[in-house]
This record gives sequence, C-alpha cells and structure tokens, in this order.
Amino acid sequence: MISDDHAEFSKSSLADYMDQARIALSITSCSIDDHPLIYVNQRFCDLTGHNLDQVKGRNCRFMQRELREQDGRFRMRDFMRDPSQDQLRCALVNYRADGSPFVNLIYLSRIRSADKRECFIFASQFDASHDFSTRLEHYDTDLRTVTNTVGKIASEHDLMMDQSVEMIANSARMIAESKLALKRMQRAQ
Ligand SMILES: Cc1cc2nc3c(=O)[nH]c(=O)nc-3n(C[C@H](O)[C@H](O)[C@H](O)COP(=O)(O)O)c2cc1C
Repeated sequence: MISDDHAEFSKSSLADYMDQARIALSITSCSIDDHPLIYVNQRFCDLTGHNLDQVKGRNCRFMQRELREQDGRFRMRDFMRDPSQDQLRCALVNYRADGSPFVNLIYLSRIRSADKRECFIFASQFDASHDFSTRLEHYDTDLRTVTNTVGKIASEHDLMMDQSVEMIANSARMIAESKLALKRMQRAQ
C-alpha cells in the first residue's frame, strides 16, 4: 500500500515517478480530512512558486486566495463531494506565491482500491494564461503518458486509476472563460 504520510509517500515509486515527470503534479490522500496535499513535484513548485514544505498538509484552495466565486472551483467542489466522478478537468484563476495571477488548467483523477474505495486524488496543473495552443498539445501528450504510467504504478499496489482520453482533450472553452476572467481582473486593477 502507498502511504498517505508525506515522509513515507516521498519514498514510494509513485513519488519517484512524479519527481521525474515534465509536468506539474500533486496528490492528496482521501483518508485525511479536507484533502491536504501530501506530495507535489518540482514542476508544481516551478509553476506556483511554492516549495513542498510550504504546501504539504494544506488544501490547494489557498492558491485561489479571495477569488472563490469561480465556475472551476464549484466544479472541483462537486467533484470532491461526488465519488462517482472519476475525473475532472477545469480551469480557474489561481495566484502564484509572488501574488501574480494565472489561469490554472487542472486535471483531477481518483485513485481507488479494488473495493472502489477512494484512496488518493491525483492532479496535474498547467499554466494556460498565455499563448498556449502548441504548449497545450505537448502538455496533453505528456499528461496521457503520465496518467498511463501512474495507472500502472497504482496497479502494482492493488490500486486503480481511471483515465480517459476525452477528458484530457476539450479544454479550449473552459480556458477561454478563465482567461476572460483574468483579463477582467487585470483591467479592474
Ligand atoms: C490533488 C488536488 C490538487 C488540487 N489542485 C488545485 C489547484 O492547483 N488549484 C486550485 O485552485 N484548487 C486545486 N484543488 C481543488 C481544491 O483543493 C478544492 O477541492 C476546491 O477549491 C473545491 O473545494 P472548496 O470549495 O472546499 O474550496 C486541488 C484538489 C486536489 C484534490
């Protein structure tokens, strides 16, 4: 079994794989109240400006700061409350450690035990603020590879992660909405 304790998790094959991935990744345990992060990789730290020690044990919502009324956040809240949803992709405005806002395209997927009990939620983050179409294509390819491999590592621990190609595609509209929200915010400043 993969441990939900941060120190133990960091020694696991899943943490090793996350460390060498080219995209931002994070994971929370479902057995700890309010889904605090138990691990994030270096790419997550590069994207957000936070290091592992600053984020572990915290729910990722802190990156929304005061910007809570966002469709992406409501969709994540519904996803967290509804274990029948395997995966979610959504976009919302987040803030980096230095206070700069960015459009965060988030992918969430449940990792379950054989009896379908949810154990972990695995996530990836992508900065979709600027010209992103080619970068997004590369990112989506990487995300498919990563979710495949994480699925395989999970299965070695008698865990399962569902992945679907359709979920990884089709993000243009939600990014456009969040970009508009970011522009409106910047104009209002
Ligand atoms: C593994 C994981 C990673 C997450 N990453 C982010 C993130 O990068 N940015 C963000 O705003 N929310 C992120 N969330 C979602 C928030 O933690 C939270 O679920 C969301 O804000 C909805 O819940 P709330 O309405 O209680 O805040 C993540 C959730 C999980 C489980």
